[in-house]
Amino acid sequence: MNENAAVSHFNPGKGAGSSVGVAILGYGTVGSQVLRLMVENADEFAHRAGGPLEVKGVAVSNKEKHRGSLADELGLLTDDARGLIEREDIDLVVEVIGGIDYPRELVLKALRAGKSVVTANKALVAAHSAELSEAADAAGVDLYFEAAVAAAIPVVGPLRRSLAGDRILSVSGIVNGTTNFILDAMDTDGVSYDEILAESIRLGYAEADPTADVEGYDAASKAAILASLAFHTRVTADDVFREGISKITADDISAAKAAGYTIKLLAICERLIDAEGKESVSARVHPTLVPHDHPLASVTKSFNAIFVEAEAAGRLMFYGNGAGGNPTASAVLGDIVGAARNKVFGGRAPGESTYANLPIADFGDVPTRYHIDMDVVDRTGVLAELTKIFAEHQISLRTVRQEEKGEHARLILVTHAAREADLARTVEALAATDAVLAVNSVLRLAGE
Ligand code: NDP
Ligand code: HSE
Repeated sequence: MNENAAVSHFNPGKGAGSSVGVAILGYGTVGSQVLRLMVENADEFAHRAGGPLEVKGVAVSNKEKHRGSLADELGLLTDDARGLIEREDIDLVVEVIGGIDYPRELVLKALRAGKSVVTANKALVAAHSAELSEAADAAGVDLYFEAAVAAAIPVVGPLRRSLAGDRILSVSGIVNGTTNFILDAMDTDGVSYDEILAESIRLGYAEADPTADVEGYDAASKAAILASLAFHTRVTADDVFREGISKITADDISAAKAAGYTIKLLAICERLIDAEGKESVSARVHPTLVPHDHPLASVTKSFNAIFVEAEAAGRLMFYGNGAGGNPTASAVLGDIVGAARNKVFGGRAPGESTYANLPIADFGDVPTRYHIDMDVVDRTGVLAELTKIFAEHQISLRTVRQEEKGEHARLILVTHAAREADLARTVEALAATDAVLAVNSVLRLAGE
């Protein structure tokens, strides 16, 4: 039995037509659009929730910055988030500040005070899901976080509800808008990495610290959330293997292009089953080569796309806006309406489900295919010498291509699937030979 059910309180609801008091914590890219849409669509949301949604306050760190804004005009601004949460007339708290420690304190405070919480904060959910879910269960309130993964794309709800009757085998795809925006611009327009990163910050796609995007931390948090939901197992960001895009060069992109691939930062969450039938969960984030004709290759700009493979449903694809104020506000508002409806009519959203408690697979055991680009000396027998190293590590080669490169040769090899640990050792052994002058890039492949 799900232990959550045992501690959940019955929430009878405030009654049809009752108003729901809302506190918005954060008034940046996302929070400002949430308030605007709540004000513009107040009548519609009242119908959908069963009672009017009344925003009682908007917490920021610096009120002066927001003089003349809608929140200021409505007299809603405060720099006392803790005090706002404590108010008796607040039923629902929307956390769109970002970070981990301070929002954790605020969200726990809200849940423990019996307020439902809607958050867009993947870093918080991925790090503290257990503690937050327990607090929500103990108080009998909701914790919603649709916007935490892939902004506008409804994927958390489908995994929590629509696919609750299926057995999910994998969830994978592009879950970070900033890095997709950067890789796409480098690929199609040849724009420099620094220039396009600055543009993604200006457009409000990147996190407050864009290192979270480019080094894969943001995608790893999202992968942890997706894997937890898909496999009914608690997976945190620390359980996710992570490699970002900051080392991807214009040369990598053009070499990939020439070979028929596009480089994407993928999150891959899989149910692995070993020879004895023992199951485990693998979650990883890394730059990946996908063939030009694969659907993920045509996901451009800050769009995201997620494939879910389930036993009965088969293959499902979720595609849409993965970052930005309005797309994220759409997901936050969907959660606000859902949480408000439960406050009005009673009942709760599905809580955390971790009954399967599968072990996390060792990354070294995960099957991977590599694309290896090396400069080698141009002499008789080099190819035989190097392919022997692959054979010694039980790695089978799929394609081998050799090109002239000045006085040297350039060797591009694609392997068949093998254990990650064996592939890593093979690359180490190759780099240690006199025949290999430079290992230009080692990228993983998917989608063939
Ligand atoms: P912003 O940096 O644009 O906004 C953050 C807001 O939080 C600001 O209004 C800031 O106040 C406020 N804030 C910061 N510290 C405090 C504090 N101590 N007390 C009260 N308010 C504070 O962030 P975003 O809107 O881009 O992101 C918010 C959350 O949404 C993050 O968790 C992010 O990961 C998530 N998210 C963002 C998406 C996006 O595309 N931007 C997409 C999906 C999720 P002030 O304005 O005064 O500085
Ligand atoms: N910084 C995130 C991204 C925002 O670029 O995907 C959406 O979660």
